[in-house]
Amino acid sequence: MKDFKNKVAVVTGAANGIGRELAREAALRGMKVVIADIDVENLNKVKVELEEKGTEVLSLVIDVTEYDQVEKLAKETIERFGEVHLLFNNAGVVVPGKIWELPLKDIDYIMESNLYSVVYGIKVFVPIMLKQDNPCHIVDVASVAGLLTSPAMPTYHMTKFGNVALSEAVNYQLQGMGSKIKMSVFCPGYIQTDLHNCDKRRTEKFKIDEDPYYTSEGFYAGLKQSEHVIKTGMPIDSIGMSVFQGIEDENFYILTHPQYNPIIGLRVKNILEGKNPDISFFKK
Ligand SMILES: NC(=O)c1ccc[n+]([C@@H]2O[C@H](COP(=O)([O-])OP(=O)(O)OC[C@H]3O[C@@H](n4cnc5c(N)ncnc54)[C@H](O)[C@@H]3O)[C@@H](O)[C@H]2O)c1
Repeated sequence: MKDFKNKVAVVTGAANGIGRELAREAALRGMKVVIADIDVENLNKVKVELEEKGTEVLSLVIDVTEYDQVEKLAKETIERFGEVHLLFNNAGVVVPGKIWELPLKDIDYIMESNLYSVVYGIKVFVPIMLKQDNPCHIVDVASVAGLLTSPAMPTYHMTKFGNVALSEAVNYQLQGMGSKIKMSVFCPGYIQTDLHNCDKRRTEKFKIDEDPYYTSEGFYAGLKQSEHVIKTGMPIDSIGMSVFQGIEDENFYILTHPQYNPIIGLRVKNILEGKNPDISFFKK
């Protein structure tokens, strides 16, 4: 996609962080923008900000872990704007910690928020885009954590590897059909957003409860670690521009932190050479 003016972009998780930057960049490029999130207050702020700059905005409170709400997102987009050209499957959360200590609820929480949400986005929007039969683009927001592993957060890696694999495979299918839908998978390193505060926005079904895990040392250590890596991450200012450049250039993989490339390479090299993953690498 090279021509964005008057086209329609849908951004999930648009009330904060990367999603908000993507919505801002879409607006700057003259697109009509559909913003969806569960954070009502910040969603309204983004709506007001974009409308003040003259952008046509449809703002919807949508929980991407609910398939029928993602269907509603598509339905209302088409009712309001007639078509959809650019979809950002961006909403996501983080759950640090040791997987054997986590309540099962937290595993559902991250699977549904990071992986099922993208499945739902693809399942609902691809048929609409195929029917339109005009240039469209889908960006799945994964992470560099979908290209390399670390001891920090197995559940996050699991969902982000899932995002990358899903995007690659769906992209092959779309290519194979000669479809006009292009895809990208965005794999950033740490970026300064509000991700470490995602627990504040948990919906009722995933609410933190009386489970002793939520008062354990492991839980607090995870929160502290997430806060540290997000707060010391890359400033967010250039993210919208980089992603849109990637779309224009039809880059499938959009990365932000070249310093991680050797680690991605080492993982693949170890696999090919039959070497085992070694924790001492992370202790250096
Ligand atoms: N910040 C980073 O360092 C980083 C790095 C790699 C990948 N990512 C990915 O980028 C994406 C955006 O994260 P961010 O860093 O901007 O975090 P963020 O917390 O600042 O923004 C995420 C947004 O998603 C929304 N959201 C969460 N669950 C939702 C749901 N069920 N339905 C609808 N909206 C929901 C939140 O309300 C929030 O507005 C995520 O998929 C994240 O995994 C972030």
